[in-house]
Amino acid sequence: MVRWRNRAMLPTATGGGCMSDTRVAHDDWAAAPTLPTRHPGKNHTMSRLDSFIRRMQAQRACIDAAATQLNGLQGPVLELGLGNGRTYDHLRERFPDRPIFVFERQVAAHPDCIPPDHFLRQGELRDTIPAFAAEGQPGAALIHADVGSGDKGASGQLAADLAPHWARILAPGGFLASDQAVDQPGLDPWPMPEGVDPGRYHLYRRSA
Ligand SMILES: C[S@@+](CC[C@H](N)C(=O)[O-])C[C@H]1O[C@@H](n2cnc3c(N)ncnc32)[C@H](O)[C@@H]1O
Repeated sequence: MVRWRNRAMLPTATGGGCMSDTRVAHDDWAAAPTLPTRHPGKNHTMSRLDSFIRRMQAQRACIDAAATQLNGLQGPVLELGLGNGRTYDHLRERFPDRPIFVFERQVAAHPDCIPPDHFLRQGELRDTIPAFAAEGQPGAALIHADVGSGDKGASGQLAADLAPHWARILAPGGFLASDQAVDQPGLDPWPMPEGVDPGRYHLYRRSA
């Protein structure tokens, strides 16, 4: 028997039901007969948790795949988007002997994951990346760019604006691992590592 104790709390056909009221028992919810969906707003097939985990796995797999392809290629590594420093820490582990330059507008990483000042380029990427290209550093072996935000259009545009600089900064044979797809002459798409769905992360190799 359905025993709604508080009719005002019933979810409606258009969604928006509130289940925070502890007066509505869980078995009542499960027994509700005519609801179009039990969880309004849950229209996607993969949970956000699963999607996040797969993105992290893809990110790591792409960085690791690029690392195995560098062979004797010299040059620094660039980390674009420090965030809380997770991937920077991974890069430090994978590339203990290379300089790692880090680009970030506002440093707010885990205290253990803050790069030394001389490897940090703080500011807007549209300023700091062209400035770095003009520094005359050796060609980079790897650029890891994780600069996406919740705004898909803005993130794509940022990557499109930066891609010509990435092609200049990378050494021939160097790799770009990116959360955004780019279509840039000189950056050739590279196959995804096994187990990574196409489109989840992106790998490119700087043509010779
Ligand atoms: C998704 S987070 C990076 C997460 C990082 N890979 C990690 O493992 O913690 C993206 C970072 O890029 C930075 N960022 C995004 N757009 C930027 C821009 N235009 N200039 C400088 N930094 C930017 C943000 O401040 C943010 O810290």
